[in-house]
Amino acid sequence: NKKGFIFDLDGVIVDTAKYHFLAWQKLAKGLDINFTEKENEQLKGVSRVRSLEKILTWGNKTISDQLFQDLMGKKNEEYLGYIAEMDDSEILPDVPRVLQYLKTNKQPISLGSASKNARTILERVHIISDFDAIVDGNDVSKAKPDPEVFLIAAKEINMKPEDCIVFEDSVAGVEAANAANMISIGIGSKDVLGHADYVFNDFTEMSDDFLKSLIEN
Ligand code: G6P
Ligand code: MG
Repeated sequence: NKKGFIFDLDGVIVDTAKYHFLAWQKLAKGLDINFTEKENEQLKGVSRVRSLEKILTWGNKTISDQLFQDLMGKKNEEYLGYIAEMDDSEILPDVPRVLQYLKTNKQPISLGSASKNARTILERVHIISDFDAIVDGNDVSKAKPDPEVFLIAAKEINMKPEDCIVFEDSVAGVEAANAANMISIGIGSKDVLGHADYVFNDFTEMSDDFLKSLIEN
């Protein structure tokens, strides 16, 4: 039996939300906008462009297209500074065990991320070679909750959408997986990800037997 296993990156494999937060917060400060961790929650799974639009809306600011582009560049530069310091220790608990289990059982593995920095991050934490395909923010025209990223991720590993399983930590990502007609597994809180088919606080709570049942059913 074969299923396609599609992983989101930020918040599923590594906790980069804290770096996105620091970078957005610095930028918001420069615009005199108060940006809190609570607002940062709402940016999970949201593309870079859309994130800046939201921050500007929250802060009641309108800016020129030129400044918008400049700020996007600045945010990413700041973010890349944090990424450059990452290493294997930032891989979230039990992610290596789950990847290993799937590989041992010859299941195709794909990445489906909104981030344009996905490859850089996977390289930094040394797990890029575990993925049979990588689909990221550079490959899509429509952001989550649109299913595009996951549909391409499935295609790249030659799997039908209904034979795919998606691991996601964001509301928009779970919506995208559901819209793609895939099994959605929320990684995080049930309160936030109640629309997923299954929810686990993190991978330490996901047994090999559960993975086995996904492969066999
Ligand atoms: C992920 C993160 C978002 C981020 C988006 C784009 O979905 O959860 O917070 O805005 O990727 O990331 P990028 O690295 O391209 O700015
Ligand atoms: Mg995520």
